[in-house]
Amino acid sequence: MITFDNESKIIKIDTENTSYAMKIVRGKYVAHLYYGAKTDGLSRLYKEKIVSFAPYPAEEGVKFSLDTVATELSFFGSGDLKDTAIKICGQNGDCTTLFKLEDFRIYKGGAKGGNLPYSRDGDETLELIYFDEVSGCKLHSYYTVYENSDTLIRKAKIVNESDSSVSIRALFACQLDFTDKKLDMLTLAGKYYSERHKQILPIGISRQSIYSKCGHSSHRHNPFAALVSKHIKENSGEAYGVLFGYSGDFEIQTEKLFGGFTRLLAGMNRDTFEWRLLPNEEFYSPETVLTYSDRGLNGMSQNLHDHIRKHIVNPKFVYAPRPILVNTWEAVYFKIDNDVILRYAENASHLGIDMIVVDDGWFGERDDDKAALGDWFVNRKKFPDGLLALAERVRDFGVKFGIWIEPEMINADSDLFRAHPEWVLGSKNREYSLSRNQLVLDLTNPEVADYVGDCIIAALKDVKPDYIKWDFNRSLTEVGSAYLPKELQGEASHRFVLGSYRLHEKLTRAFPDAVFEGCSGGGGRFDAGILHYVPQIWTSDQTDPVRRLPIQLGTSVAYPLSTMSAHVSHRKFNKLEEKPDYGFRFAVALWGVTGYETDITSLSADERETLKKQTRDLKKYQPLLLSGDLFRLDGLYKKEYAFAVVSKDKTEFLFDYISVGKKRNVSVKLFGLNENCVYTDEAGNGYSGKTLMQDGLKLQCTDKGKYCYSIRYFVCNYK
Ligand code: DGJ
Repeated sequence: MITFDNESKIIKIDTENTSYAMKIVRGKYVAHLYYGAKTDGLSRLYKEKIVSFAPYPAEEGVKFSLDTVATELSFFGSGDLKDTAIKICGQNGDCTTLFKLEDFRIYKGGAKGGNLPYSRDGDETLELIYFDEVSGCKLHSYYTVYENSDTLIRKAKIVNESDSSVSIRALFACQLDFTDKKLDMLTLAGKYYSERHKQILPIGISRQSIYSKCGHSSHRHNPFAALVSKHIKENSGEAYGVLFGYSGDFEIQTEKLFGGFTRLLAGMNRDTFEWRLLPNEEFYSPETVLTYSDRGLNGMSQNLHDHIRKHIVNPKFVYAPRPILVNTWEAVYFKIDNDVILRYAENASHLGIDMIVVDDGWFGERDDDKAALGDWFVNRKKFPDGLLALAERVRDFGVKFGIWIEPEMINADSDLFRAHPEWVLGSKNREYSLSRNQLVLDLTNPEVADYVGDCIIAALKDVKPDYIKWDFNRSLTEVGSAYLPKELQGEASHRFVLGSYRLHEKLTRAFPDAVFEGCSGGGGRFDAGILHYVPQIWTSDQTDPVRRLPIQLGTSVAYPLSTMSAHVSHRKFNKLEEKPDYGFRFAVALWGVTGYETDITSLSADERETLKKQTRDLKKYQPLLLSGDLFRLDGLYKKEYAFAVVSKDKTEFLFDYISVGKKRNVSVKLFGLNENCVYTDEAGNGYSGKTLMQDGLKLQCTDKGKYCYSIRYFVCNYK
């Protein structure tokens, strides 16, 4: 609910458990008052302060400074000496920016607009309308509230109402100022093969930032951060989650001043973003999802998970059964052909696997990663009867058909490049940098995006794949465009992301029944922007179960299990297993949307039985894993991982424990259960909800000496 109190000039946004408040001061500035647990006590929170060197607006006198109050948004060069949210260089050539509040509106539903991914079905929106009288621009700052998930969306629109062009140089539509809290910064850091490891850093008196300049949200930092209370635990402590819904270059930064004032900014990366705005044009920022919880990291994660599932992911797919797939990549790499795929399909049908995915290598002259990206027609040497005939034969086994694409990319050794060398990103008069032997298509040019989309549609339209894996295997360099005029080259990074979203829109519309899976060399584009188009993302190329555990744990801090694709593989990496232990690998892959990426054609009889049981179990567990509340469990050693997924009605839960160490005789406390239930596992052991939450569940692991694991599924019988 959003309310305005005319006397105090306070605007308050309430969700089920949180309050967010701001105050209009001096008729034109918007001070930030509060964000946290639900409260009514706001009236004494606003304090004006002036200190030496604090600039003050001449008309206000030595009483008020934009540098010493917390604000909702801050503006470059006009009295706030900290890092500021918005910078617009106007017709006079200088970049001083000062927006003053003109008006505000409160209305039902979400805020319209823009050509960017957005959250659906907001309850109510506050729109603050500011005007900068020198640049002649209007700033619309939106706050859309989602009461049940305790989330807020922030985004902004700038409209040029002047009669000359201006240049937007920074647009952080989400700013959060804190005057009195001691907070740490949690981020998801990594690299290729080790994405999204959770790290908690103290916020020093400095500027700290996570960012991408890779052209995609990247393996290095995820566009998510949380500000958390000291010594935060999974189930206790305060956490502010900030999820930036964008798939390109971003920046989330904190700045802390001596004395404690801390500001967080989230938006597009200033180094690679600028935008020219002609008279009457408007520009929308990407949106940021904000949440607060005093129920520890799990509370924050659950709010974000609910928001992503209910308001970002396509409702058609989010809770629908996901096909249990087997992907050919790690077993055969580029060596696919008709026989291989049919052998896999036949085996899949006996194992309870629903779908086979034909990964890279089915098109053009593609036998390795050196050629053919861009040539989206079937390779007749490998598939002489074409894809449709193959898909039909696969489906005859009762198995669905999935396929891999990488639309944004091109090899220099391709028919497409030979025909259109000007269709790639590049800087005039400079050599291209290659990565994985490939270049990047210039999606700032709509003709290029449409062409590649049409080719893929033509290749796949009869086949109607049940699933499409969308890969993106390099970062962007030399981000210039032969299509854009000189004065718009600085917009190429953002225009590329817009082009990629257009292409996602086009292909997801062309194949409305296909489950799309995002991928970028594993998890290099795992963000809330892309999740608008794809319900699941390949979490990492790392399938060593031991090394994968921290990746999955970190990813689940921001993203629900329903978005995290996780495969049981056979490649032996870690020193713990004598040979790949499918039971152990399954226990790890349950932390997500479970599938297989292993040679299912050469399994032993025992292994076949193991997989058959797993796929049966998965079909039972999957609805719960897709829709339940995730509780990562505390109180464990460093190399132990445990989680429980509890159904929203608390009538069932799945418990999964993995220790990369010896078996321990301990109990793990559970959370979020109904104390009045007796929860019974598949072996018939019953425990009351109260006992499980107070005393814990005694571990019974399958002990393999150097590691152990346990998966237990419980259903509630009321006492
Ligand atoms: C990178 C992906 O992460 C892999 O799963 C696989 O699809 C390869 N690309 C194929 O080139």
